[in-house]
Amino acid sequence: MASFSAKSMTMFFLFTIIFGFGFLHASAQLQRFTHTPKTDGSLNFLVIGDWGRRGKYNQSEVAFQMGVVGEKLDIDFVVSTGDNFYDDGLTGEHDPNFEESFSKIYAAKSLQKQWYSVLGNHDYRGDVEAQLSPFLRQIDSRWLCLRSFIVDSELVEIFFVDTTPFVEEYFTVPEHHYDWNGVNPPQTYIANLLKDVEMALRESTAKWKIVVGHHAIRSAGHHGDTKELVNLLLPILQANHVDFYMNGHDHCLEHISDLSSPIQFLVSGAGSKAWRGDVRETTGNGVNFFYDGQGFMSVQLTRTDANIVFYDVSGQVLHKTTSSKQLHSSI
Ligand SMILES: *[C@@H]1O[C@H](CO)[C@@H](O)[C@H](O)[C@H]1NC(C)=O
Repeated sequence: MASFSAKSMTMFFLFTIIFGFGFLHASAQLQRFTHTPKTDGSLNFLVIGDWGRRGKYNQSEVAFQMGVVGEKLDIDFVVSTGDNFYDDGLTGEHDPNFEESFSKIYAAKSLQKQWYSVLGNHDYRGDVEAQLSPFLRQIDSRWLCLRSFIVDSELVEIFFVDTTPFVEEYFTVPEHHYDWNGVNPPQTYIANLLKDVEMALRESTAKWKIVVGHHAIRSAGHHGDTKELVNLLLPILQANHVDFYMNGHDHCLEHISDLSSPIQFLVSGAGSKAWRGDVRETTGNGVNFFYDGQGFMSVQLTRTDANIVFYDVSGQVLHKTTSSKQLHSSI
C-alpha cells in the first residue's frame, strides 16, 4: 500500500511537471509589436529578401528603386524575408557588414522606417545572436530581427516564422556550419513554434493575416517547394484563413496561388544576386508570375483590398495582383 501511494505520488509529480510545462508553454507567446495603420486605415510596406552583399549584384540599384517606390507609397515599414548578410551572416555584433550591407545601402529617406526581419539559412551560418542583438539597434534603430514574432494591428497581423530549423538537410549535410544555439533539439523547437503560430493565428481577429518566412512553401525557382513546410506549416495556414505567405530563399520574384485554399504565395528574394536561370516546370500549377532577375515587392493594405506589386531593378512594374474582402465580415 505504501509503495502504491509512493508510486501514485511519483505519477502525480510527473503529471504536474508534464502538464505544468505544457501550461507554461501555452502562455509563452510570440513577442508582439504593434504597428498602427495610417489615419485613413491603410498600411503600406515593401518586401525584400536575400540582399546583403555590400551593394554588389545590383543590391544598390534595387535599394535606390525601393527608395523611390517607398516615397510614392509613403511606406510604414519594410519586411526582410531573410538571408540578410552574405555569405555567412554576421561574424558578431561589430561586423562592419551590418552597416556596409544595410545602413549605407538602404539610405533613401523613405526607407528610414522600421525594418522587420527574419533569419535565412545564410544568416544561420554566422553568429545568430549577433543579428538578434539590441546592439545592432543602437547602430541603426531601424533594425529588428528576431527568430519568430508578430507585428499586429486591427488591419493586419504579420506572423514572422523562423523556417531554417525546419529544413532537415541543414542538419545532415556537413558542407556548412550552422549556429544552432537556441534551436536544439530542433524537433522540440519546431513543435513549440508550430503550436505558438497555430494558437496566435487561431486567436487573430485582424482583417488580413500574413505569414513571413525565409523558405518557400511553394516555388518554381531553384530550390523549389520546401517539403518540411508543405507538411508541417501549410496545413496550419490553410486551416486558419491566412491570406498571404511571403518568403525569399529563391533569388527571384514569384506569385503562386495555392490550389486548395485562397492562400497566395509571394516570393521576394531578389534583393541582390539573381539570374540563376533554372525554372521548375513541374510546379506549373498555380504559378501566375515568375521573374528570375532582381527586384522587390510592395504591399498596400486597406480594410477591403490588398494590392501587391512586383518591381524590377529599374523600378518597372512587372506584375500586380489584388485581393478583396467584404467590409462587413470584420469585427
Ligand atoms: C543588373 O541588372 C541588369 C538589368 O536587369 C542586368 O542586365 C544585369 O545583369 C544585372 N547585374 C547583375 C550583376 O546581376
